[in-house]
Amino acid sequence: MTQTRIGLIGLGAYVPERIMTNDEWAQLIDTSDEWITTRTGIKRRRLAADNENTADLATFAAERALADAGLIPDQIDEIIVASDTPEVYTPDTASFVQHRLGASEIPTYDLAGSGCAGFVLGLDIARSRVGVGDRRVLVIGVELLTRLMSWRDRNTCVLFGDAAGAAVVGAGAGAAEIVAATAGTDGSRGHILTAEVGGTRAPFNVERARQLLHQWIVMKGREVFKEATTRMSAAAKEVLTQAGLDVDDVALVIPHQANLRIIQATGKALGVPAEKVYVNVQEYGNTGSASVPLALWEARQQGRIAVGDLVLLTSFGAGFHWAAMLLRF
Ligand code: ACO
Repeated sequence: MTQTRIGLIGLGAYVPERIMTNDEWAQLIDTSDEWITTRTGIKRRRLAADNENTADLATFAAERALADAGLIPDQIDEIIVASDTPEVYTPDTASFVQHRLGASEIPTYDLAGSGCAGFVLGLDIARSRVGVGDRRVLVIGVELLTRLMSWRDRNTCVLFGDAAGAAVVGAGAGAAEIVAATAGTDGSRGHILTAEVGGTRAPFNVERARQLLHQWIVMKGREVFKEATTRMSAAAKEVLTQAGLDVDDVALVIPHQANLRIIQATGKALGVPAEKVYVNVQEYGNTGSASVPLALWEARQQGRIAVGDLVLLTSFGAGFHWAAMLLRF
């Protein structure tokens, strides 16, 4: 008897048209193309247009993933949106996406605040939902970071960009099978990477707004760097162990695109040659939960993934959360 493969049956992504270069940042704040390039590898990022919001970016990526899967919105049974930059606080972005897509009155929900690990976490949850009832679950990673961050804080603003990526998780012979997955959280270190104002601990008010604290992202860069590298490589090794496979069996590693040095250090810790590690951070910057699906979609578009290839996703974000997944195309 042939076993049904549960995996990714469609992929899509969307990036806004507007490109902002490092030199443009250097005209606004005290920075330079040289500083940004050497510390992060980032050369450009995309900026959402004034008339584009989070749910618009998400819907564009979702429409492409549905077309790739050969499905219409009615054929989706559930929607998960991973985002730290929601359309509004309440209701969740997933409900806007359900409406804009024209999907049926299905359950939808956000994975909010899980940082850059949100999309891979969402895929793992979707896999379990497909397993209980032969469902098709649309998973979207989307961020519109440039609208909510401070444009004055050079420590963070140059790092981010706007994008969305999506996948349909379902069962089928042609699916990119989810071979193994892992995820974890260390909630003791949330203070190292956090946007603190706006919740119940520090509600939004005029005084905080006057100080622009609502836009402030607290980030202890070096600690984030170390933790991201350690967790992403450990999670990747964990899924390989689960699958009984070796890193040499993997055709392509797709790490969260935070910055080039984190990507390179993760590849080194895993023992994979640079040509097997996908990098597009130079084009888009750090797009949070959109970074892994955008990179996966782009790698496939560029012919970097062939039928039968094992592709290893690994991600890390605020929380701290991390998640990794092994796919067989
Ligand atoms: N332009 C010029 N100078 C800057 C800039 C900038 N955009 N930003 C910071 N600096 C300055 C600082 O003010 C500081 O100056 P000082 O020494 O006079 O105080 C100096 O540069 C900091 O230098 P370093 O500490 O040596 O910088 P470092 O090599 O640690 O690089 C960076 C900083 C890029 C943030 C690094 O720590 C890093 O990559 N950390 C990971 C953070 C990350 O990727 N976060 C993304 C979100 S989290 C995620 O996606 C997982």
